[in-house]
Amino acid sequence: MAQIEKILVSKTGKKFYYRKGQDVHTQFGVIKESDILSAKDGSEISSNTGEGFHLISPTFMDLYRKIKRGPQIIPLKDISAIIAETGINKDSEIVEAGSGSGGSSCFFGHMAKKVTTYENRDEFAEIAEKNIAFLGLDNVTLKRKNIYEGIDEKDVDLILFDLPDPWLGIDIAKNALKVGGYLVSYSPTTPQLSDFSEESRKHPEFRLIKIIEVSEREWEAKERKVRPKSQSIGHSGFLVFLRKIGNSS
Ligand SMILES: C[S@@+](CC[C@H](N)C(=O)[O-])C[C@H]1O[C@@H](n2cnc3c(N)ncnc32)[C@H](O)[C@@H]1O
Repeated sequence: MAQIEKILVSKTGKKFYYRKGQDVHTQFGVIKESDILSAKDGSEISSNTGEGFHLISPTFMDLYRKIKRGPQIIPLKDISAIIAETGINKDSEIVEAGSGSGGSSCFFGHMAKKVTTYENRDEFAEIAEKNIAFLGLDNVTLKRKNIYEGIDEKDVDLILFDLPDPWLGIDIAKNALKVGGYLVSYSPTTPQLSDFSEESRKHPEFRLIKIIEVSEREWEAKERKVRPKSQSIGHSGFLVFLRKIGNSS
């Protein structure tokens, strides 16, 4: 499918996507490609029914929200907490497993120097690879490999495990991380966080920094109807942050 080149925003805030060679069909009528191509960002274009839309160019986040979904991707509230706590940035090298839909791989790829993501199931690797290509992230490499067989990368700033049994990877993570780097585990259930944190205490190279669950409550505000939205995100996962503070003796 052709790349999304422009976005049309309706009066209600709903987004419609323009791809080369196509008119845009909406429930508020059709917007002609020729009208889109002759308009500037910020201008208003009318559909054939007279409904107005504002034209904008897509940002990374607009495209990120359109990636294909296979396994559950890590929600933005949890991705934000990982970034804020570990301080990863444009110079960071990151390893993660499993790739799943490539949600976290792509987000990190957008902001970090290099991301290597491991996935042991071909059907999910294909989804993640498509998403990485869709977002044009040439600094993200997917390895079709069981991460517990070994991490090839060295001196990594952050390793993220979004795996059913992350405690199995603590030993190999410590050899790949740089001193001062972080190992973060993201798990939906308390037995996983318990087994991961207990196992981490057997490794003197690590300190357990923090265990958190991030809640986000979205609100609506219209006239005097100002209140939490009735539908909000439920439970996603727990984040356990370990920091490597030394090398094995
Ligand atoms: C919940 S998904 C990851 C979602 C991803 N973080 C995202 O944001 O899109 C977990 C993935 O881990 C993969 N996986 C499980 N065990 C693995 C292992 N030992 N090595 C590599 N991948 C593994 C699964 O196949 C699955 O695709």
